[in-house]
Amino acid sequence: MEQIYRLEQIHKHFGDNHVLRGIDLDIRRGENLVILGGSGSGKSVMLKLLVGLLTADKGKIYFDGNDITQLPEKGYYPIRTRVSYLFQGGALFDSMNVYQNLAYPLKAHTDMSSQDILAQVKDALKKVGLEEIEHLFPGSLSGGMMKRVALARAIINQPELILYDEPTTGLDPLTTHTINELIRKMQKDLQISSVIVTHDMPTVYRCADRLAFLDEGCMVFIGTIEQARQSTHPKLRAYFQGDDRV
Ligand SMILES: Nc1ncnc2c1ncn2[C@@H]1O[C@H](COP(=O)(O)OP(=O)(O)OP(=O)(O)O)[C@@H](O)[C@H]1O
Ligand SMILES: [Mg+2]
Repeated sequence: MEQIYRLEQIHKHFGDNHVLRGIDLDIRRGENLVILGGSGSGKSVMLKLLVGLLTADKGKIYFDGNDITQLPEKGYYPIRTRVSYLFQGGALFDSMNVYQNLAYPLKAHTDMSSQDILAQVKDALKKVGLEEIEHLFPGSLSGGMMKRVALARAIINQPELILYDEPTTGLDPLTTHTINELIRKMQKDLQISSVIVTHDMPTVYRCADRLAFLDEGCMVFIGTIEQARQSTHPKLRAYFQGDDRV
């Protein structure tokens, strides 16, 4: 199946706040899809719907062709082993060291031996360019290191798809560049697809195969970067204004 996910006419309210108002979107196998949209437009809510951390009020979500819109909590467990979610802000467990943070999903979802877990933790850290930091606690890591550790944790289950919620926000340009390269590397070397919520144009240019733009609860644009640059939508144009990269 070409699509990993298909969203059809998804609606989500919180009380009077009608956040998503009929979202149609395909997430294709192998692609990096970037989601743009103003603060509060519902980007994080949309990611949470994909892994069952929130449920849609109306519409359908298909994962690998199966309707997953309304599953009991346990029904989402197998999906979460195939789809990793990098929370906005990184979200490592502060009371656990790097090893424990990375081992956590393996202990929760597999019956691997401690030796195999350690080997896999080291391997995942190496893939994000970090070594010999297993014993450190999140409090002693820089922001960029923390994002990389969170990325290592996201790839440790060998997922098919990673959902990144603002992976580069607040990082310096060089660290942003490193993260962007890693996102591409995951796609190229490990065939992991990505959905990337971001406001950072360098991430858009480096990582996006396709772009989707969420505005006032609707996907007002889905297409390539080149098509986005030609768009007449004023809010989407604002992202590309004064930007003469090709
Ligand atoms: N659990 C919740 N309960 C009530 N309202 C919520 C909840 N989660 C999100 N919202 C509301 O839904 C709207 C969209 O929130 P969301 O976090 O998806 O925005 P966002 O597009 O990710 O913004 P940002 O770019 O600032 O991260 C906001 O108005 C927010 O207050
Ligand atoms: Mg958000």
